[in-house]
Amino acid sequence: MAPFDLIIFGGTGDLALRKLLPALFHRYVDGQIVAGTRIFGLARDSQTDEAYRERVREALQKHLAFDMRAPSMLEPFLQLLSYRRIDLQAEDGWGELAAELADESRVRVFYLAVGPDLFGSVGAKLQAHGLTGANTRVVVEKPIGHDRASAAAINDALGQVFAESQIYRIDHYLGKETVQNLTALRFGNALFEPLWRAEHIDHVQITVAETVGLERRASYYDKSGALRDMVQNHMLQLLCLVAMEPPSSLAADAIRDEKLKVLHSLKPIADGATSHLTVRGQYRAGAVEGRPVPGYLEELGTNTSRTETFVALKAEVSNWRWAGVPFYLRTGKRLADRMSEIVLTFRKVPHSIFGDEPVAQNQLVIRLQPDEGVKLWIVNKIPGPGGLRLRRVPMDLSFAETFGGRQPEAYERLLMDVVRGNPMLFMRRDEVEAAWSWIDPILAAWQSSNESPKAYTAGSWGPSAAVALIERDGRTWHEDA
Ligand code: BG6
Repeated sequence: MAPFDLIIFGGTGDLALRKLLPALFHRYVDGQIVAGTRIFGLARDSQTDEAYRERVREALQKHLAFDMRAPSMLEPFLQLLSYRRIDLQAEDGWGELAAELADESRVRVFYLAVGPDLFGSVGAKLQAHGLTGANTRVVVEKPIGHDRASAAAINDALGQVFAESQIYRIDHYLGKETVQNLTALRFGNALFEPLWRAEHIDHVQITVAETVGLERRASYYDKSGALRDMVQNHMLQLLCLVAMEPPSSLAADAIRDEKLKVLHSLKPIADGATSHLTVRGQYRAGAVEGRPVPGYLEELGTNTSRTETFVALKAEVSNWRWAGVPFYLRTGKRLADRMSEIVLTFRKVPHSIFGDEPVAQNQLVIRLQPDEGVKLWIVNKIPGPGGLRLRRVPMDLSFAETFGGRQPEAYERLLMDVVRGNPMLFMRRDEVEAAWSWIDPILAAWQSSNESPKAYTAGSWGPSAAVALIERDGRTWHEDA
């Protein structure tokens, strides 16, 4: 790959130091970032290049502690970095930046690792300084708005400066290896497609469980909550990848068109239905992984917040393929385990020939993290002479055992895709807005109800109402046993 320029607004922030620069280091070690590439960290304070490199060195040593593959390459990598002081609201620093980036033939990527309220003003500055030419790409992170209208306003502001093809909206879940593998699993195996529909699938579960709490993000998180933070983006993207029709190719728009159709097919959860189709929870003090942890309100230092740290809901994709198949989604902070998975449960056998012996339903479990892999649970005879007894057992594919080596982090793939100009794993404007259109009525109904989120103990699997949500339908949340 040719040398390129990457300019990180928010170059001293948590995202840059914890995710972006470690990811770039790995790509450098693998030879994808070549000499002559320039990485600029931009922020408001004054500091020298050397001080910035020192800060990045410390961050890499901390965050790559277990994954520092090539310590001898750290110094040459740091030499690609420079620091520039910039004022996003005023003129300071812009003229110099424009002069440094004058070579229009190089790919230049502006990474806006700053709050979405600044996207518009940064875009306008880039335009005013002639930094929006054809080889320019801009990367934005969530939250893209807090509802559909605010998302549209952000998209409009970006759209005034950049063509849609220049805008890369990150959903880092799409960069995860196991999420990319969903496409390979579904469309690289003729085996699954005939079964991947309402005739054969009883229901789908998507769980993204976290053990972490607020992580010093209180001011963002308390305004957001789990529905905006996780469901509007990551979980709906996962749902789209499970439910979408086969795209005709891997072309970015072929895939994004199919995902958009799924979002448009989601049955709205109207006002009256939120109380039985959604559950929101908030954690109280408890113990996670054997360690006592405070409750959400204590962490926040207030007792008035009604922000949800857990959501479970039952969605339906109203189309020919999925009519009548529930998609149960749940996500939360301070749960018992860090675990993300997608489970497809197949229908019962139409007639059992085994008398009283129970016949378990087949399940395909796609484990996104940790212990990445795929398990297909099938029914077998328990060996032995004593009659036909059955037990479900897994056909078990572990990524670590099968492929060995390290699993690249999502940002490694995503950053390089921006440089290559491949938007396949990024969200198009209409996807983001369609997702908000489905989320907005749920938020509005919660807002107008007097109910508070249901309490759950940190270290549990969420409020009992989430269990009731699925058990009412005669089903249970999947447990890996
Ligand atoms: C982020 C959310 O988008 O995803 C966080 O803002 C969440 O609240 C994180 O913790 C989870 O990502 P991962 O990769 O750790 O599953």
